Amino acid sequence: MTFLKRYGPWAIVTGASYGIGKAFASLLAEKGFNLILIARRTHLIEELASNLRTNSSAEVTSITLYLSGPGFIEPMIQACKGKDIGLIISNAGFGLKGLFHETPIEKMFAMFNLNCTAPVHIAHTFIPVLLKRGRGGILITGSFKGMMGFPWSACYIT
Ligand SMILES: NC(=O)c1ccc[n+]([C@@H]2O[C@H](COP(=O)([O-])OP(=O)(O)OC[C@H]3O[C@@H](n4cnc5c(N)ncnc54)[C@H](OP(=O)(O)O)[C@@H]3O)[C@@H](O)[C@H]2O)c1
Repeated sequence: MTFLKRYGPWAIVTGASYGIGKAFASLLAEKGFNLILIARRTHLIEELASNLRTNSSAEVTSITLYLSGPGFIEPMIQACKGKDIGLIISNAGFGLKGLFHETPIEKMFAMFNLNCTAPVHIAHTFIPVLLKRGRGGILITGSFKGMMGFPWSACYIT
């Protein structure tokens, strides 16, 4: 079975507007996947979607979502309606540096929600979908730095 057959035809990429997520989106489009791109910066995901449509055969949808708070899963499910989702790249995330006690707690909660709560919610929602179709995958990015003791990284959870 080819990679596209096993994990395609549709993939979701969170944090697709920049960095690693953008690179994942480009690679998957090259491999023939159709894509749902998710991030906060609408202009960046729309621009990427347009470039991918021009430069590949991919069907691409972009959806502006804030994954650090509640209420993102319903619009995400709606965006997937009628699309045979086989691969989820749960990549949106960020790290905090600094003294733990001087870092605003709101920033820590936002990071925790994005890096931890959102991937759990996404996996919990989509694993039944993948099980039903009998193939597919979920890839969650994270950082080893958030899992061990590092100077200035006590507030980093991934
Ligand atoms: N780069 C590294 O060296 C490295 C190392 C270890 C781990 N990682 C992990 O790999 C992942 C990607 O890293 P990166 O370096 O590519 O990061 P990045 O360049 O900062 O990109 C992060 C992506 O997440 C999106 N994002 C951030 N906050 C969001 C929110 N609240 N809701 C929705 N989307 C949000 C951003 O888009 P918007 O701003 O448009 O929302 C952007 O597309 C992260 O989980 C990071 O922890 C990276």
